[in-house]
Amino acid sequence: MYTGVLLAVFLLALLFSLRDKTIDVPDCIPFGEAYSEPRIEQLDENTYQVYMVASMWNFEPSEIYLPVGSEVDFYLTTKDVVHGFHISEKNLNMMAVYGGINKVTVQFDEPGIYPIVCHEYCGAGHQNMKAEVIVNYPN
Ligand code: CUA
Repeated sequence: MYTGVLLAVFLLALLFSLRDKTIDVPDCIPFGEAYSEPRIEQLDENTYQVYMVASMWNFEPSEIYLPVGSEVDFYLTTKDVVHGFHISEKNLNMMAVYGGINKVTVQFDEPGIYPIVCHEYCGAGHQNMKAEVIVNYPN
């Protein structure tokens, strides 16, 4: 008797888990030229793309100079282990995963220095792994 009930619950749970799901996940771009040159590209006056490569224990590029009002697409990958990518002022949190590229778009409307830190433990140099977005500074 209980066996039958348990079996029914199990089968229902199985069906439930197989139903269609729509879950928000970050943009994940097929791995291609991920390790081509880390760089900053300017698309137009206010639009930039940053191709950022994380590795033990730094980000490239590590200093990103932008004018106020910039909209930036960050494309992020790693050469080795999993790293984090955290911009506290923007409440932004992304992972750098080997074999994949993550993307996020950020608007910088206030001048200042925005530290980017690795917030995923990645080895002995983890606490020194950082970069900066510098918006209209000095100016
Ligand atoms: Cu990279 Cu912690």
